[in-house]
This record gives sequence, C-alpha cells and structure tokens, in this order.
Amino acid sequence: MNAVMQLMKDHSSVRNFSDRVIDKSLLDNIVQSGQAASSSSFIQAYSVIRVSDQQNRELIANAAGGQSWIISAAEFLLICADMSRIQTCCAKAGVEQLEGYAEHFIAATVDAALMAQNMMLAAESAGLGGVFIGGIRNAPEVVTECLQLPEQVYPVFGLCLGWPTDRQMVKPRLPVDVVLHQDSYQADLVDKQVDEYDEQMQNYYSTRQSNVKTTNWSLQTASAIQGKKREHMLAFLQSQGFLKR
Ligand SMILES: Cc1cc2nc3c(=O)[nH]c(=O)nc-3n(C[C@H](O)[C@H](O)[C@H](O)COP(=O)(O)O)c2cc1C
Repeated sequence: MNAVMQLMKDHSSVRNFSDRVIDKSLLDNIVQSGQAASSSSFIQAYSVIRVSDQQNRELIANAAGGQSWIISAAEFLLICADMSRIQTCCAKAGVEQLEGYAEHFIAATVDAALMAQNMMLAAESAGLGGVFIGGIRNAPEVVTECLQLPEQVYPVFGLCLGWPTDRQMVKPRLPVDVVLHQDSYQADLVDKQVDEYDEQMQNYYSTRQSNVKTTNWSLQTASAIQGKKREHMLAFLQSQGFLKR
C-alpha cells in the first residue's frame, strides 16, 4: 500500500460543493493528467467540453433528471468519445474514412473512460471531489444539440468537479476474491459470495450519513439495471455515426 493506492481506495463521489472556483491552471493540469492515460493504438479518441454557460448547465441538469450538482459544481465537464479527429487523420493520409465499426466504438469509449477516471484521481489528489454523470444519456440529443457535438462524437458521461463541503463514507466494494478469479472463471462461488456482500451492504445502506435505505447490493443493482435501459441509445449512437457494423 502507498499514498496513491490509499487515495484510490478513499474515493467516494461528491455531490455537495462550495462556491470556490477551480483555478484554470489546476483544471488544465487535471485534463493533462487525464490525457496521460493509456490510449488504444494511441488514437486519443476523446474530447472534453467545459460547460460554463449557466443556461446550458441548467438544461443538462434537467436532461439528467434534475441533478442539481451539475449546476452547483465549480466545473461541469462533458466527456465525449470522439472519432471525428481520426477521420481528419485518414483524410490527411489519403486512406478510406471509416465510420460505424463496433470495435472503434469500444476503443473510443474505453479511451474516454480511462481519461475521465485519471481526471477524477488527479482532482481528488488536489483535494477536489467529483461525480460522474451517466444521467446525461437520459436525453443525449439535448446535450448533443446544446453543445454542438458533430457526427462521430457522442457524450459518454459528465463529470462534476468542485471543492467538497462534505464527504460520504467510502462504499465497500465486492471482496477481491469475487472479482479476481484464479486461472479460470469461478462461477460456482458467486451465489455465496454475493450473499455475504449483500449482508455487508445492507449494513452500509442502513447506517450511512445520508440517503439511508433498507436494501442490499443485489436489490439495488437489479433495480438500477432495470431502470436504466435507455433504449434510445442504439438509435442515438447510430445517428451520430457509431455502431453500424
Ligand atoms: C459512468 C458513471 C455514471 C454515473 N452517473 C451518475 C449520475 O448520473 N448521477 C450520480 O449522482 N452519480 C453517478 N455516478 C456515481 C455512482 O453512483 C457512484 O460512483 C457509485 O454509486 C459508487 O459510489 P462512490 O463513487 O461514492 O464510491 C456514476 C458513476 C459512473 C462510473
């Protein structure tokens, strides 16, 4: 264990922020730290939109189901998977422009997510807090229109950053043995392991500082996955030029 690992394990999402701004030089450093993440074939297939316009923040907060922290955070960054720059590379190289491959969708989405998580860690190392906002995919066309995203770019999620006014308890993760399989996938242990974790999480949900609930991880996860099918996503992604083949 070292200081970096401790920082990672201390993560909890922050949704309550003070009015203090984030210096532009710190923000630039956070974005550069994000860019230091590995990138599939070094395509760097992401763009980040810094949303400062208050009206757009309000529009996006509504689109995301009324998440007020999108408005109150010092910074709201939209993390996009971006294959549009790569079309320019293909044109410069005089090769065929490629559109709609599932593989490219995966590569760009992974690139964007790795970059974003690096930004979160960099921000946390500076004493900031943040939360990712998948809720923007409730109405991806609203975000796409108001921030003028071109074809071959899609909004993966948002990131609120700011100076925390409070911090939540760290949420216990699945035990390492559940996610780290030895040599082959160990399906037979899952039921027992999830039962044990459910007990731990039931205790966490009933004793945390805010949003106390009577639930466990299985119930919470089953309901989350049912409630967020976002069936519009396939047609939306195709309209932006992704996932056609
Ligand atoms: C891709 C992604 C999307 C998320 N979307 C939202 C969101 O729209 N609103 C929100 O309040 N939290 C959101 N979260 C935060 C998760 O709820 C949170 O990470 C999870 O419950 C674990 O809690 P922790 O981050 O405090 O450890 C998102 C997290 C990820 C990784």
